[in-house]
Amino acid sequence: MGVPEKDPREEVVQAWYMDDSDDDQRLPHHREPKEFVSLDQLTELGVLSWRLDADNYETDEELKKIREDRGYSYMDFCEVCPEKLPNYEEKIKNFFEEHLHTDEEIRYCVAGSGYFDVRDHNDKWIRVWVKKGGMIVLPAGIYHRFTLDTENYIKAMRLFVGDPIWTPFNRPHDHLPARKEYIKAFVEKEVGDHAVDAAA
Ligand code: LAC
Ligand code: NI
Repeated sequence: MGVPEKDPREEVVQAWYMDDSDDDQRLPHHREPKEFVSLDQLTELGVLSWRLDADNYETDEELKKIREDRGYSYMDFCEVCPEKLPNYEEKIKNFFEEHLHTDEEIRYCVAGSGYFDVRDHNDKWIRVWVKKGGMIVLPAGIYHRFTLDTENYIKAMRLFVGDPIWTPFNRPHDHLPARKEYIKAFVEKEVGDHAVDAAA
């Protein structure tokens, strides 16, 4: 066996458990000692990631294939900075309110960086740092929020299946079918697997 190769995605998508401090949301909020979360652990929560060539997104065959495979027909860009985003302060505040969507949230960072925080199976916050070239999918029904980091800038490609619906449902919205389906697919499944482990 050779030395295992590092997953190239890890250079542009990193995740860790957050501390409980009330400091500036744009700080990393690592625990002490740091507790990193692997991309496999994110997959278990339904969070998918890719590393793509952000300098050539217009001609990128890999992106084209992902869009075809997953039906991402809609695409636009969202640049988060005071000059480009109308109602910047209000949007920044709303992005950081814990919420869910009835569809996937698909973001491809083509410049800058930002934090997508997601809840794990035990309701703990995992901070997912997405940098240039990182693309993530948050599944429908997962509770999450977004903030810029201390660099204060991101340009994200937003993808969607069909006509986009960006509506955030702030927590709690546990009765929504999307939430129930998320629980069934990713939370109860985990509990079931662990029950099997314990019985073995
Ligand atoms: C969104 C991010 C901020 O809903 O979660 O656009
Ligand atoms: Ni969202």
